[in-house]
Amino acid sequence: MCGIVGIVGVKPVAERLVDALKRLEYRGYDSAGVATIHDNKLDRRRAEGKLFNLETKLAGEPLPGLIGIAHTRWATHGVPNETNAHPHFVDGVAVVHNGIIENFAEIKEELGAEGAIFVTQTDTEVVAQLLAKYRRQGLGRREGMHEMLRHVTGAYALAVIFEDDPSTIMAARSGPPLAVGYGDGEMFLGSDAIALSPFTNRIAYLQDGDWAVLGRDGAQIFDLAGNRVERPIQISSATAYMIDKGNHRHFMEKEIYEQPEVISHALSHYVDFAEQKVRPVDAGIDFANLRGLAISACGTAYLAGLVGKYWFERYARLPVEIDVASEFRYREMPLSRDQAALFISQSGETADTLASLRYCKDNGLKIGAVVNVKESTIAREADAVFPILAGPEIGVASTKAFTCQLAVLASLAVSAGRARGTLSEADEKQLVHSLIEMPRIMSKVINAVQPQIESLSRDLSKFKDVLYLGRGTSYPLALEGALKLKEISYIHAEGYAAGELKHGPIALIDENMPVIVIAPFDRFFEKTVSNMQEVAARGGRIIFITDEKGAAASKLETMATIVLPEVAEIISPMIYSIPIQLLAYHTAVFMGTDVDQPRNLAKSVTVE
Ligand code: F6R
Repeated sequence: MCGIVGIVGVKPVAERLVDALKRLEYRGYDSAGVATIHDNKLDRRRAEGKLFNLETKLAGEPLPGLIGIAHTRWATHGVPNETNAHPHFVDGVAVVHNGIIENFAEIKEELGAEGAIFVTQTDTEVVAQLLAKYRRQGLGRREGMHEMLRHVTGAYALAVIFEDDPSTIMAARSGPPLAVGYGDGEMFLGSDAIALSPFTNRIAYLQDGDWAVLGRDGAQIFDLAGNRVERPIQISSATAYMIDKGNHRHFMEKEIYEQPEVISHALSHYVDFAEQKVRPVDAGIDFANLRGLAISACGTAYLAGLVGKYWFERYARLPVEIDVASEFRYREMPLSRDQAALFISQSGETADTLASLRYCKDNGLKIGAVVNVKESTIAREADAVFPILAGPEIGVASTKAFTCQLAVLASLAVSAGRARGTLSEADEKQLVHSLIEMPRIMSKVINAVQPQIESLSRDLSKFKDVLYLGRGTSYPLALEGALKLKEISYIHAEGYAAGELKHGPIALIDENMPVIVIAPFDRFFEKTVSNMQEVAARGGRIIFITDEKGAAASKLETMATIVLPEVAEIISPMIYSIPIQLLAYHTAVFMGTDVDQPRNLAKSVTVE
């Protein structure tokens, strides 16, 4: 979940390395550092906190040099201070690392017994220590690198420079992604192609177990056994411009507002607007003949999958087994080849999701990937890729990726329904018609509810705990509402299936615990209103998110009622996402938190 980058160039690299780190800051932002070699000496600048602090330091003390590596950190081992910030130096070796060296404690003990002095609390330092030891023992740089890789276990993307070789970067990958960029007389290395996009679009991806030697004129790539391997150079579509906030205060706000447009774009990939039909899906998955579907993902992407479960079961009569990827990967779930598996991930790099994918692949299942980053590892390992086409999502809290995931899952469920004969042509037309209408309705909703939600958020920001309730597809939405609120405002929030209220959480209800009820006037409405009544009877304050019919039908007094237009059931999860996202956003803004980069989080979670 850290970001790494390297350049072996013909002009100074420090500024360009920091520019690349800015594109990787979504991977972690608790400290950063850059190291170069100049006049045959390694030197570095490191700073705790956001990248801005490193930039300030570099402005005061510039770092010359035509070769360098850099890092933005999301701490796993050791507090986020300057000492633990990468690059780590040991006797002329500099290392940056993304991932976790799982056997670092044993190696540390071994090296400690041999007299090595460790100065950081990181797992990464053992890599630098091992390399330095092998050099002292007389091994060449490549031999040392190969020997080190045979000793470390775990997940890593590594970049290494040696003080006595100012024209080579060494790199290795086991788990987290690593892209090699080919420039004109310069070579680049980065955690993803977006980081390298200002420099080159000619990218080769290292595969698990690969390690590479980059010189100014190219790269030699080896497998773990030390054999030369070729990795194809692809033309990356990552855009070079630095994505900006436009007129918005935060990326999150911009991304909320972008949703109608990006969803429309995503939908056009999956449905034929003129014919009001779904387009044929990627042939990698044969929905017609499946006995079941397994879905796995993490966080918000998992909650999109949970909504998808309702759709696949309802519209395609396809049984769905779903779990968070960190559980799925270890459950030893019995799987059979007449099932397929779907993995949902914005980044396409989430370690647990990838491990679940590999588990299903090993069991012979066909794999579908619902991803935003088409060049990602999850996309590359899937049999069928279903892009969500949301464009780069910078805010750490997912918004537009969530609703685009939903739009894609809804289209796939309708497709599956047609393929399995559970939906008629007329059903398809009606459902697709509703999907096509969604961006327009969403756009109206954003503008209509924004002022009310902004003022309501001021009140909400005074509470310490909030409960979200919903039934049917509004249940995963209640979970998503709670997740969004807690991750960016730090207010404690829980989501519950409305029917579960009386099985425990009702004990918490009092005037200090607002209850946000998500209840369109659908087939569950009456039941949810009964649960609301239970809350009201105990003095609970209700924030009611419903439609015109629902508002008219409920006679309960609320703290606020947010009224949305009546919409078809298939699009309500996307439409109701808008008030819950805006509520979390404005509450966080009132509380003065770092909305786009909330504490302790990172956008791409490449460790377990
Ligand atoms: C929450 C959020 C996270 C991600 C989760 C999975 O707002 O963004 O919960 O959804 O970390 O990430 P991806 O989708 O990249 O696999």
